[in-house]
Amino acid sequence: MRVLVTGGAGFIGSAFLRLALSERWFDSLVNLDKLTYAGNLENLAAVEHDAAYQFVQGDICDASIVNRLLEEQRPEAIVHFAAESHVDRSILGPGAFFETNLRGTFTLLEAARSAGVLRFVHVSTDEVYGSIDAPAEADEAFPLRPSSPYSASKAGSDLLALSYFNTYRLPVIVTRASNNYGPYQFPEKLIPLMISNALENNTLPIYGDGMQVRDWLFVEDHCRAIQAVLERGDEGEIYNIGGSRSLPNREVVERILARLGKPKSLMQTVSDRPGHDRRYALTSDKIEQATGWRAVVAFEDGIALTIDWYQKNQAWTRRVKTGEYQSYYARNYSGR
Ligand code: NAD
Ligand code: DAU
Repeated sequence: MRVLVTGGAGFIGSAFLRLALSERWFDSLVNLDKLTYAGNLENLAAVEHDAAYQFVQGDICDASIVNRLLEEQRPEAIVHFAAESHVDRSILGPGAFFETNLRGTFTLLEAARSAGVLRFVHVSTDEVYGSIDAPAEADEAFPLRPSSPYSASKAGSDLLALSYFNTYRLPVIVTRASNNYGPYQFPEKLIPLMISNALENNTLPIYGDGMQVRDWLFVEDHCRAIQAVLERGDEGEIYNIGGSRSLPNREVVERILARLGKPKSLMQTVSDRPGHDRRYALTSDKIEQATGWRAVVAFEDGIALTIDWYQKNQAWTRRVKTGEYQSYYARNYSGR
């Protein structure tokens, strides 16, 4: 199978490419990525010379690039990761989220429809369900109540993708995963930010009371779930992908500090994120029954592996924390 991946230089897309190429899942893989602040070709150094892999720099909002690529490459499947992905950035500036997550997805769907693509996996998020009161868990029919500009743009793009199945029979599958963690995650998200700040003996900003709950999914489990729905999922369906491991943020951060041998006094309460979702929780029964996939990496193992990776790769973190990151950090955290 020839596969086009969008956003393959980001955290999850690059994990998918590394895994797919090392385990020979497909005949060829093309990666279309704009290389925003979150895109980093260093994440793909291990595969850049693989004959089955090709990188194309470009914006998914640019119809001429997307159409040309589909005409030249004739991919049978598209796995669409490219997005603006960080909630705090969507609060500071929602425009890019509207552009990439909605207009970019629309551009890709239109191109896929003209090219007659055989599978279109739209990679989405459990955040589209919004905050969920305990003990409920969202299944795929749960109402959509996105809270942030990020999650609203993802919910909109999910609906648009599904409309292309209903209206044009474009073979779309939507996946909704919980919070991913693992190596190469940009240090704006909770786990890599806390690890890298702790390694530098900087304070760890805890939003509000820190008792918000997230379900944690190791990134390779997520990638294998996408591969499973690509092969065995049904067109027009939505599949939740969870790690079955819910934890309050404070507990996650305390585990990180304990493994690094750093004091809890590094944790510093800061004012809460506006519109902050209190709890995410989802059930993955549908994908498990349909494909046999299950999350297999226990949080204890995944977090240990992740912390060790950041400890060994501090040069990578130093490089991505320069320039734009510094101004983002100041805008998001100063005076909070
Ligand atoms: P990321 O921010 O690490 O990477 C996004 C990638 O998309 C980058 O390489 C960036 O350069 C590229 N990109 C952004 N705008 C683009 C554009 N206009 N054209 C082409 N490329 C563009 O994101 P991630 O954490 O790897 O998330 C990947 C996908 O998974 C997203 O769709 C996100 O909504 C979804 N998701 C993420 C998580 C998570 O916990 N990180 C959980 C569930 C779902
Ligand atoms: O649920 C899936 C989603 O998970 C993905 O769709 C998003 O792309 C991804 O960014 C993530 O969204 P969250 O908002 O849950 O992740 P984030 O890492 O930003 O925050 C996780 C929790 O930690 C959340 O409750 C906010 C809190 N937090 C985060 C940061 C960055 C802090 O307390 N302090 C921080 O500095």
